[in-house]
Amino acid sequence: MHATLTDEILRAVEAAPDAAAAQQTAVDLLKARLPHYTWVGIYLMEGDELVLGPFLGKPSPHTRIPLDSGICGAAASQRATIIVDDVNADPRYLACSLETKSEIVVPIMRGDDVLGEIDVDSDRPAAFGGDDRRLLEAVARALAQKKA
Ligand code: SME
Repeated sequence: MHATLTDEILRAVEAAPDAAAAQQTAVDLLKARLPHYTWVGIYLMEGDELVLGPFLGKPSPHTRIPLDSGICGAAASQRATIIVDDVNADPRYLACSLETKSEIVVPIMRGDDVLGEIDVDSDRPAAFGGDDRRLLEAVARALAQKKA
């Protein structure tokens, strides 16, 4: 379903001159192309915290997230994608917007190291499935290969 879109985003990420430009490009294209992506952002590991980088959507109060906090912290600690169909039923959830209903967080890994993660919120309940996971994991792999 997302094959053409995946190709478009991967090509744009690969063509970006550096990691920061690639992150911005990924956020811009994901937000523009996918109507159910209400908020799209990238967090970057700094020490033992996730620090908000480029994003589109309402400003989030969570600009620095410790690894033991939030769905974002859980995905980084577990080094695994997390999909939450109903954020209000998940005790880990750190609220960004009252309208948010579901979330996907995909770690950006280089080997065993977590460089950061892609975080997407949706105002739709259970908005994220296998297509979103495959798309975002491919984008995360492409981002991990970019040089700072
Ligand atoms: N919901 C995230 C926090 C980040 S905001 O959604 C942008 C979490 O629970 O970790």
